[in-house]
Amino acid sequence: MQKYIDQINNAKTLDEIDSIRIELMGKRGVLTEQLKNLSALPESERKSAGSELNKLRDQITTTLDEKRATLEHAAIMAGLEPQKIDVTLPASTSNTNGKLHPLTHSMMEATTIMSSLGFKLCHGPDIEDDFHNFTALNTPLHHPARDMQDTFFLDADHMMRTQTSAIQIRAMEQLGTPIRVFGLGRNYRREIDATHTPMFHQMEGLHIGTNITMADMIGTIKTFIEKYFDLSDVPMRIRPSYFPFTEPSVEVDIRWDKKSGVLGSGNDWLEIAGAGMVHPNVLRSVNVDSDKFQGYAFGFGWDRMTMLKYGIPDIRNFFRGDIRWLNHYGFDISSTPSLIEGLDD
Ligand code: PHE
Repeated sequence: MQKYIDQINNAKTLDEIDSIRIELMGKRGVLTEQLKNLSALPESERKSAGSELNKLRDQITTTLDEKRATLEHAAIMAGLEPQKIDVTLPASTSNTNGKLHPLTHSMMEATTIMSSLGFKLCHGPDIEDDFHNFTALNTPLHHPARDMQDTFFLDADHMMRTQTSAIQIRAMEQLGTPIRVFGLGRNYRREIDATHTPMFHQMEGLHIGTNITMADMIGTIKTFIEKYFDLSDVPMRIRPSYFPFTEPSVEVDIRWDKKSGVLGSGNDWLEIAGAGMVHPNVLRSVNVDSDKFQGYAFGFGWDRMTMLKYGIPDIRNFFRGDIRWLNHYGFDISSTPSLIEGLDD
């Protein structure tokens, strides 16, 4: 019988195990026959022979079961082997399922362009205090302009930032003047429709120095727009407007064809940014000598700028997290903009 035990232990496949089981314990199996033959033995031998055979059958059954489990486990492991992932390998950048959100992509482009124009990226918190979001921006308590920017208040002094202009204040506090910075970030206001969401983005520039004029402002905005939309000599106009923190204040429009959505030519005007010369009160609020320093600021609604560039019709889809939308409008991770690519004239 040891012969069979060895055979079982040496078996390489589940089929081999099965045929050994049949050979021993099938209807005409070796062991089955011996058990059948017990009755033919004389009474005196039957008992001990019987218990001997039962012991043997138990031993063989256990060995068969153990071997079967070992072979089955090995089969599962062999199936898993090709699916093995080496987590120490560097991430693949070309063949991933993930996509960059169009906003992420357009913000990278904005960062690249603004950097090339000499602007430094600055940051501010989403939860802002009254001073940075309003008061320092020449919008004191009870100023009517606050009504247009109703937001979520955490307490009397803290709110969800309503405009990236708050970053202007933080940047000047940290870096002083002269200064040439830009901010990109989330803002929050109580509004929602096809072109407004309660959370939205802005890209904002600030340039303060000793000899800065509106001509610098217009040139910078025009250059940015042309690089961002890849247009040359886009017809642009400025209209008088009002913001508490700029004087004079303007609205910037560019030519487009409203029907087709084509930018840079056509008979319609598209409002694209707010801008102006920074109000002396803003400079004074961060202890900058407003007789010596002056400059401009401008702000783009960044979700809109992204929709225009990529032909995205409804702003609300930006924040729905629908993977089908992201697969359609998203960008391959390897197609990130750089200073070298895309900025040559
Ligand atoms: N903060 C203004 C807004 O949210 C935009 C703006 C920025 C206007 C900078 C002028 C200068 O409407």
